[in-house]
Amino acid sequence: MALNVVIMAAGKGTRMKSALPKVLHRLAGTSLLQHVLQAASALGAARTVVVTGHGAEAVEAAAAASGAVFVRQMPQQGTGHAVQQALPALDDANPVTLVLNGDVPLIRPETLQALVQACGGRALALLTVDLPDASGYGRIVRDGSGGVAAIVEHRDATPAQRAITEVYTGFLAAPTGWLRKWVADLGNDNAQGEYYLTDVVAMAVAAGVPVATAAAGSETEVLGVNSPAQLAELERRLQRQQAQVLMEAGVRLADPARFDLRGRLDCGRDVEIDVGCIFEGRVRLADGVRVGAHCVIRDAVVEAGAVIHPYTHIEGAQVGPGALIGPYARLRPGAELGPQVHIGNFVEVKNSTLAAGAKANHLAYLGDATVGERVNFGAGSITANYDGANKHRTVIGDDVHVGSNCVLIAPVTLGAGATVGGGSTIGRDAPAGQLTVARARQATVPGWKRPVKGR
Ligand code: UD1
Ligand code: CA
Repeated sequence: MALNVVIMAAGKGTRMKSALPKVLHRLAGTSLLQHVLQAASALGAARTVVVTGHGAEAVEAAAAASGAVFVRQMPQQGTGHAVQQALPALDDANPVTLVLNGDVPLIRPETLQALVQACGGRALALLTVDLPDASGYGRIVRDGSGGVAAIVEHRDATPAQRAITEVYTGFLAAPTGWLRKWVADLGNDNAQGEYYLTDVVAMAVAAGVPVATAAAGSETEVLGVNSPAQLAELERRLQRQQAQVLMEAGVRLADPARFDLRGRLDCGRDVEIDVGCIFEGRVRLADGVRVGAHCVIRDAVVEAGAVIHPYTHIEGAQVGPGALIGPYARLRPGAELGPQVHIGNFVEVKNSTLAAGAKANHLAYLGDATVGERVNFGAGSITANYDGANKHRTVIGDDVHVGSNCVLIAPVTLGAGATVGGGSTIGRDAPAGQLTVARARQATVPGWKRPVKGR
């Protein structure tokens, strides 16, 4: 059934105590609003209307790519008032209009589908959940025969109504024509002086339109974010779910409570991930990859059998099969490491390719370099790739040995099999197969005496 979706995202989010609009806060690396937009798009909504208000420009910019239509609500006078602003943007050709909360990010498309079905273009359908502690929520008030009579907001509820644990989740689906009429007729005679969307329930009852309920699959999917503590709580729940899915697929997480995925992680067989690792963007770990504790890996591919030792940062890089990386290594965008490459502690690699078996084991920098097979890049050596204005390439042939503490001033080429003596500053090409040394010759001064303190 063709759908309008309205996402309410105008609220200030006062309790976040943040300059950032609430719906732009991130859960698992993705904004709250983006999570909700993804759920809407999974339903194949024909039209999605986002109601913005607080921080409207930032919210609209962040969601610009979604294809949603934006309407502004200024000032924000309640959820009913929010939907009022969306009415002109609704398409009457879509018989059902679904209203979503921009601050309830984990709602599942399946649950929304069930809600739309319960509406069926005839009934007003409410998504409800049973909460042991329902304080703050609108209560579902039922009549003697069990039918829904109204939603009463917590602040307007009597003590008897406050004892009700069945609450409104903030999600409803309504026949588009009826919703138009009801929302236009809303008043604001209540404890907060706001236009409550929830008042449409009593209107539906009065009009003889059936009111149906659908139950949320879990509490987690209808929990809203109002404060940093609630954001952190939802983050943990989502991380736990993601960890569970990975473990069911065979990934061995040392501790699912100390695992963070902010994007997508694809794993082969026998992948092991130690505690405290963060995965961002799209990461692929092939068969047998082991990731040590406290690594941060973003937008990367790690091939079979590679080992990433603790405290390593990888971003926009590719790690070849059987490679050993870290501890304390940093692979930056454009680092492409071939099979069996070794990158050790405090080594940084950027925009460089290292062929099979190349090694840089200690305290080095390789930027804009092409490194051949079996190269040994000594401790403390660097490519000086930037002249203050432009970047230049360093080309290091197969089997080159670069001693310790060398500076290779790009553009420069070291021929295959070349050896560069430790402490050299290399500004011109070094020929293949020979030793090149560029440093002051060692001298011993005969008869030299240490100065002594004057009297
Ligand atoms: C609302 C429901 C309550 C329900 C609860 C579930 C009403 C009157 N109450 O209460 O029954 O149990 O959600 O979480 O609907 N918003 C706007 N413009 C506004 C006000 C709010 O766009 O003027 C947006 C907010 O950004 C938020 C959503 O609407 O995304 C919900 O608003 P909020 O103020 O959090 O409603 P609750 O008081 O939680
Ligand atoms: Ca809320």
